[in-house]
Amino acid sequence: MTKLTILTASAALLYPTLSMGADTTSQSVASPDGRNVITFSLSADGKPSYSVLRDGKSVIANSPLGFTERNKVNLSSGYRLDNVDRASKDETWTQPWGENKQMREHYNEMSVRLRNKQSDLTLRFRSFDDGVGFRYEYDVPKTDSLFIMDELTRFDLSNDGESWSIPASAETYELLYRAQPISAIENANTPMTFKTSDGVYGSIHEAALYDFPEMTLSNVGGTSFKATLTPWPDGVMARKGNSFSTSWRTLQLGDRAVDLINSGLILNLNEPCVLESTDWIEPMKYVGVWWGMHTGVESWVMGDRHGATTENTKRYIDFAAANGIRGVLVEGWNDGWQNWGGNQIFDYTRPFDDFDIDEVVRYAAERGVTLIGHHETGGNVPFYEKHMDDAYQWYKEHGVDNVKTGYAGGFPHGHSHHGQYGVRHYQKVLELAASKQMTINAHEPIKDTGIRRTWPNMMSREGARGMEWNAWSEGNPPSHHVTLPFTRLLSGPMDYTPGTFDILLENTRTSPLFRHWNGDPNVRARVNTTLAKQLANWVILYSPVQMASDLVEHYEEHPAFQFFRDYDADCDWSKAIDGEPGEFIVVARRADDTFYLGAATNEKSRSVNVSLDFLEPHRVYKAVIYADAPDTDWLTNPTSYVIEERIVTAADTLPVVMAAGGGQAVTFKKIR
Ligand code: NOJ
Ligand code: CA
Repeated sequence: MTKLTILTASAALLYPTLSMGADTTSQSVASPDGRNVITFSLSADGKPSYSVLRDGKSVIANSPLGFTERNKVNLSSGYRLDNVDRASKDETWTQPWGENKQMREHYNEMSVRLRNKQSDLTLRFRSFDDGVGFRYEYDVPKTDSLFIMDELTRFDLSNDGESWSIPASAETYELLYRAQPISAIENANTPMTFKTSDGVYGSIHEAALYDFPEMTLSNVGGTSFKATLTPWPDGVMARKGNSFSTSWRTLQLGDRAVDLINSGLILNLNEPCVLESTDWIEPMKYVGVWWGMHTGVESWVMGDRHGATTENTKRYIDFAAANGIRGVLVEGWNDGWQNWGGNQIFDYTRPFDDFDIDEVVRYAAERGVTLIGHHETGGNVPFYEKHMDDAYQWYKEHGVDNVKTGYAGGFPHGHSHHGQYGVRHYQKVLELAASKQMTINAHEPIKDTGIRRTWPNMMSREGARGMEWNAWSEGNPPSHHVTLPFTRLLSGPMDYTPGTFDILLENTRTSPLFRHWNGDPNVRARVNTTLAKQLANWVILYSPVQMASDLVEHYEEHPAFQFFRDYDADCDWSKAIDGEPGEFIVVARRADDTFYLGAATNEKSRSVNVSLDFLEPHRVYKAVIYADAPDTDWLTNPTSYVIEERIVTAADTLPVVMAAGGGQAVTFKKIR
């Protein structure tokens, strides 16, 4: 299905100006279903603004647009309307991997061309059934370079309501979510998700971020938010040439909270894939030499507790091979970990003496397993950039094609993780990896803005509090995992690394090998879920590289691990079925003929009836249900679960009963 229509008309001709008061002109574009309407306005003094209606009701009141520039290049006023182009697109595209392989891109576009004495500005607006987006495209012919000092874009929400977000930060996303009235938000990172008092669900974010700082939101009064950019050390927000486009400022919209999850808006606002081939990109499940370090029974550095020894890695490879798991991650394999938190100098081509990479890779390949490499940078970007060509080449030559990166530490010279410098850096790494047919899974990343459509070797990233926090802090509360799908995961996949079965860390905290290394020593760390919810999180917290995080010995003899054996990270289709942010979530996915269901709840026990109408009609499935037991409770009895089998069809309804802090995971295997 491909349909692309482009209409060009002088503003005065085909689309006569609507009147908005004395000297204001305006132009609108509606979504294909007519429900979302974005309206551009130009005031008498040439200041652009926009507003958004859904079903005729205001979601965003008239809100300013534009930027300020250090040398007083006027990027925000004195504009006159030159012309308005309109286009529509209805196209289906396929991605090599993703929640849904088939994507429909269906929108109406309006590009408004403005001119003032110094600059040409095209404001490109797109209206989809699942939300709207717009971006700035500037041309400033008489200048060499621009120093953007502020973004004037506002999101003046028309109604108060509830919201879910983390605070704005130029350095980290590993923060706890807040559920609060929209008007109580002081500042927020995006995606910032909300439900207005008149029942509209929405989320503000950005799409296709390149060579520009990240945007956060600052409350400028009531329910009005202003885009705030992350600066360079000298206070300049963005350094650009005389022609530049911004990322898309996006607003996803839905009637139900799950509509936001089922939306393709962020990906659809990204450009098609630029890679010549993608057959080398492989979704996979993995285990790794990882949790032992976080729980304090192994170390990243060489010594008697070193995790990344040849022998220990082989043990993980054996486990992976025996359980149909393709990847084994190894952290702490290279020289320099003794400098972590110090000068942050790591040697990316020098394994520790007790890690024989050639032997490990050979051993893995023989068993159909692939090694996932790791580059911790400690945030030392200048050093990493100096050495990364060699580092990636070295990995490639050693048969390592998939790399997890990490930026645990501040950037030097006053740079921020989330500023333009950081955005450029993460892109450089991605493009370097792509040039060698290698994939990236970034921890302490910049935010996801859907660039995996263009660069599908950008597999996954962290960018929120993941499993690691449960090893050395008060941990992630039960509401966290049922907030992430409606917030962080709207931006893209997350390498949360679910699947810790030793919920109370009994086998690590009491081990003679245990050494406290991070966080408050008085906090008794544990995982704040039931075991069944750990299984559910494999389905709920989508990542094309999905980890079983625990020490592999904790899975041996554990019947519930069968769910991970059966799980396929390379899914074809997904649907969020039911849920409310911070309360609960039910997600179904399909890979080939097998369906998977993941359901989870917050601190409250809950029962949800789930219609199985997503299954293929007239077929019969064996459902294997991994559920909390009647006496399960995340606080007092988290590890008790039951496994039950049922024969079901698409006509059935499954009662999903979840303990407090619990969840449920189901596989549906087609039997006829
Ligand atoms: C933080 C990452 O999120 C974690 O996965 C990694 O193990 C540590 N940094 C060390 O690199
Ligand atoms: Ca982290």
